[in-house]
Amino acid sequence: MVVSSAPGKVYLFGEHAVVYGEPAVPCAIERRARVTVEERDDDRIRVHAEDLSINGFTVEYGDGADEAPDVDVAESLVQAGIGYIDAAVEQARDAADAPDAGFDVTVESEIPLGAGLGSSAAVTVAGIDAGTRELGVELPTEEVAERAYRAELEVQDGEASRADTFCSATGGAVRVEGDDCRAIEAPELPFVIGFDGGAGDTGQLVAGVRALREEYGFAADTVESIGDIVRFGEEVLAEGDVAELGQLMDFNHGLLEALGVSSRSLDQMVWAARDAGALGAKLTGAGGGGCIVALDPTEATRTALEYTQGCETAFRAGLDTDGVRVEAE
Ligand code: PMV
Repeated sequence: MVVSSAPGKVYLFGEHAVVYGEPAVPCAIERRARVTVEERDDDRIRVHAEDLSINGFTVEYGDGADEAPDVDVAESLVQAGIGYIDAAVEQARDAADAPDAGFDVTVESEIPLGAGLGSSAAVTVAGIDAGTRELGVELPTEEVAERAYRAELEVQDGEASRADTFCSATGGAVRVEGDDCRAIEAPELPFVIGFDGGAGDTGQLVAGVRALREEYGFAADTVESIGDIVRFGEEVLAEGDVAELGQLMDFNHGLLEALGVSSRSLDQMVWAARDAGALGAKLTGAGGGGCIVALDPTEATRTALEYTQGCETAFRAGLDTDGVRVEAE
């Protein structure tokens, strides 16, 4: 039996602009998905999910395409829950050259599902790591990241960025530009996350920014300005000036708001964080709903968010310098 875990992520800077070739900086957060894998005597897969924001479920299936999972929750939830596990299992079988390996898989996640915090990437990364180790193969982190990216591509019909899987595999702060992902230096970052309980439609939000950018030169300039913030922010990160990073986050949020991807609940949470004395706050990910990330070493922002209209849950989660790691073997 092997247990591996991997972190979720927030965007410190650069979402949306990254779609047009600008750099972005996602950061791993101290919220993890843990995946336990135990090889079976047969070629079947049994998945037990503890905490995917829904009541736990167990599903067992074989290779027969006509074999419907026998479970008591909505089919779509099961598909969402096991799609990533299934793709991770395929990658582990492939990496270990063991196409018929069967597994019992247990998933426990501290990362809210579908909230833009990279929960699916964390589950996929931890699943590939645990699955390959259980088969006696130890992959370098870069290969876990590459295989997790391929798994996400498959599940998401060819629509996946490398940011989430790379960040989850390596931990820490990451610089993404096109297909180029690399770890970068960062100080300790006291993240506080507020979640409105919802999620935006990423495809629709990206299309909205694209349309604005094509229609107005100043919208294209706004996207470029986000890229400038990221380039400047990288230097501030290297210097370790957390207060200035907060200012840049505020600026970045303003530009995302101008591009139409914020929402009332996200703005309410951003302003609650600022009023509580956060060093900075912005939406993270696609926007339209979902999460904000603030910087605050004190308890003030989290407490304020808990009383903010539109905020369903708020929690602290510092920058996690650890990426994928083995918890038990
Ligand atoms: O909401 P998330 O974490 O999936 O992030 C989306 C980030 C975008 O830049 C809006 C889209 C993308 O594919 O990079």
